[in-house]
Amino acid sequence: MDRNAILVVGSANMDMVVVAEKFPQPGETLFGRQFNMYPGGKGANQAVCAAKLGGETHFIGRMGNDLFRERLVQNMASDGVVMDHLLIDEQEPTGIALITVDGGGENEIIVISGSNMKLSPADVESRLALFNRVGVVLAQLEIPLETVARTAELAAAAGACFILNPAPACKLPVKLLQRVDFLTPNRLELELLAGMSILDDIESVRCAAQRLLDQGVGNVLVTLGERGSLWVTPGEARLFAARRVQAVDTTAAGDAFNGAFAFALSRGETVPQAIHFANRVAAFSVTRMGAQSSMPTAADIEEWV
Ligand code: RIB
Repeated sequence: MDRNAILVVGSANMDMVVVAEKFPQPGETLFGRQFNMYPGGKGANQAVCAAKLGGETHFIGRMGNDLFRERLVQNMASDGVVMDHLLIDEQEPTGIALITVDGGGENEIIVISGSNMKLSPADVESRLALFNRVGVVLAQLEIPLETVARTAELAAAAGACFILNPAPACKLPVKLLQRVDFLTPNRLELELLAGMSILDDIESVRCAAQRLLDQGVGNVLVTLGERGSLWVTPGEARLFAARRVQAVDTTAAGDAFNGAFAFALSRGETVPQAIHFANRVAAFSVTRMGAQSSMPTAADIEEWV
C-alpha cells in the first residue's frame, strides 16, 4: 500500500427502493412501479465509488451478524473495496434505508441506522495503523458524531487529507470543523450547518459557505445538483457546471461526487481537476438505478459520450 490509498469510515445499509410516479401525500396510498433491494449506505457507496474508479479503498464500518451484512460485504468486496477492517455487531442489525424514487428520479430516504450507530471511536482507534498508510480519509454523518470527530483527529495526526460529507446534516462542533480540509454539503445541508436560509443565487450559497470557512474549514465544496458544484475558499468562489443528463435515480449522486473527488485527490489531481471529474461521475450515477449499482468504472466514464 502507498499513500495513494483512501480510507472511508462510515455506514452501510441495505436500500429498499420503491419507484412510483410521484411521492405520496400524508395519508395517501399509491401504487408503485417497482421494488428492489440495492446495496447502499453513504459510507459504503462512497467507498465503492472510489474502488470502482480504481482507487485502493479501505472501509471501516460496523454491520450486524445477518444476511444483509453477507450481501453487502460480498458486493463491496466484488467492487474492489478492502473489507478487512469491518466490525461485526452481535446486538444490532445491519442498517437499512427505505427509499422512494419518483418519476423524475428524485428521492426521499428514511434510514434505520442499526449497527452503524454502534461504530465507536475505540473501533476506529483499533484500526490506527491504517491512517498512516492512506492519503485521503473520507467520512459522513451516518455514524456517531464522536466517531467522526475521532476519525478527523486521527487523519490530522497522520497528515492525511480529511474530507467530510456532512450528510445527513447536523450542527458540527467547531473543533471538528477546524480539522476538515474539504466539507462537501449540498444546499440543504449547508443551510443547516451555516444557520441561514440560502436564496436561489450563487452569492447566497457563497455567503453561507463563508460562515463555515470562518469557523476553520479549509475548503467548502457545495454540491448543487444539476447546476454543478461551488468551490469556496477564503476570498474566492468558483462554480463548476454539471453535465445535463436525463435522471433515472438521483440516489447516491452526492456519494458518487465524494467518492470520485477523494479518488481524484488521492491520485494527485489538482482540486479543480478533481471537481470536474467528480461532477462527471455524479452525473453518470444518476442515469442508473440504485446506489452502489450506479457507480461507474473509469472505463465507463471515459467511454461516456
Ligand atoms: O446517499 C444515499 C444513501 O443514503 C442510500 O444508499 C441510503 O442507504 C442512505 O444512506
